[in-house]
Amino acid sequence: MTASPTATPTVDLDPMVLFADPYPLYAQLRRDTPVAYVPAMGRLLVTRYEDVVTVSRDWETFSAREDTPGPEHKIIGETLMSFDGEEDHLRLRRMMDAPLKPRALREHWEPVFRANAAALLDDLAGRGEADLFADFATPLAAMNLASFLGFEGVSAQQLIDWCKGIIDAGGGYMLDDAGIWERGFAARDGVIAATDAAADRVRGNPDPSMISSIINSPEPMTPQQLYSNIMITIGGGLNEPRDVLLTAAYGLLTNPDQLAAVRAEPSLWKKTFEEACRWVSPIGMFIRQVARPVELGGVRLQPGDKITGVVASANRDERVYADPDVFDIHRKGPSHVAFGGGGPHFCIGAWAARASIGTIALPALFDRLPNLRLDPEREVPWGGFVFRGPLAMPVRWDA
Ligand code: HEM
Repeated sequence: MTASPTATPTVDLDPMVLFADPYPLYAQLRRDTPVAYVPAMGRLLVTRYEDVVTVSRDWETFSAREDTPGPEHKIIGETLMSFDGEEDHLRLRRMMDAPLKPRALREHWEPVFRANAAALLDDLAGRGEADLFADFATPLAAMNLASFLGFEGVSAQQLIDWCKGIIDAGGGYMLDDAGIWERGFAARDGVIAATDAAADRVRGNPDPSMISSIINSPEPMTPQQLYSNIMITIGGGLNEPRDVLLTAAYGLLTNPDQLAAVRAEPSLWKKTFEEACRWVSPIGMFIRQVARPVELGGVRLQPGDKITGVVASANRDERVYADPDVFDIHRKGPSHVAFGGGGPHFCIGAWAARASIGTIALPALFDRLPNLRLDPEREVPWGGFVFRGPLAMPVRWDA
């Protein structure tokens, strides 16, 4: 261990090891160096629950505004995620989150989410085997997202391709791939065209979609802000519901006693969803920049220091959760921080994910596919640390 310019502990982490399984490394960081500088990332990782919550909530010290924009800026531009405060951040956020509040979900979107899940399961039911990743969780998340965005006539596959194009280029993880920017810009152009079409349809003729809420608000966004914020919603709104659905299904399929309990007591579906978010957080981290001198986890931080709040680690903090590596839908303890630590950037899609996956898709999946089980002849591969979940999930059921 050496000293960084800000005299914080420095830790070398191998991204490939993190991709395979970040949790043992996070446990080590929480124990020995809970605020540590990682040269490969150029950032300080904050790994304990209490500190992650502090970074999330104290937005005047830990700003969402970074002085050097990340690679996503080239594709997506500036979104609500990189603003602070009432005027800049909240103004944009209010236009976007109105259609995703619990009442709007109940009134408009839950019936649509239910119909989307039923249509996919009806198609699958006679087959007896499938990859839940490709055949159910991914198209379902895309269909739900297209619905509440207000994209009509955009297929699930189209939205999946755009999401991948934006994330591969904007995420900055695959910069050696020659076609990556080309596909990223093509995805951006596709999203802009679909957003323009939706905006033309709902201008002066409101419907319950997010694009309608933005376009028809008294002080609407500029066209560039609209495109950027729709792109970040696509980048953040498709893979995460997919991953939490698969993680929850895996947790139940590998713990038959918990599956029996949830079948007997349907109110446990909600707890199953929350426990899956905690156990393997679909988004592993959020970023901030230090705006004024502060001490965190015993480490002195200076303005300009780049911080990563590792929610995946906070959600396994042994100071907060007993047996944190175990999937347990009966677990007690404080709320997980998979949607953020309760600060102003708390996920705007949290209620939509809870409704579409926890309330609707998970019970429908286990209801419609009798004796659902993991395929005993094939593995479930997992991967990722910025985003994490099963990469495939071969299953069988009695058709
Ligand atoms: C299980 C599913 C999901 C998880 C675990 C998740 C997680 C997160 C996390 C960790 C953040 C960052 C919080 C922060 O910076 O403090 C976030 C923000 C955000 N999420 Fe989600 N998300 C999920 C689903 C969705 C969905 C379905 C949407 C689509 C509307 C969405 C849209 C967003 C947006 C736009 C932000 C930025 C909010 C802001 O900056 O004010 N997310 N999400």
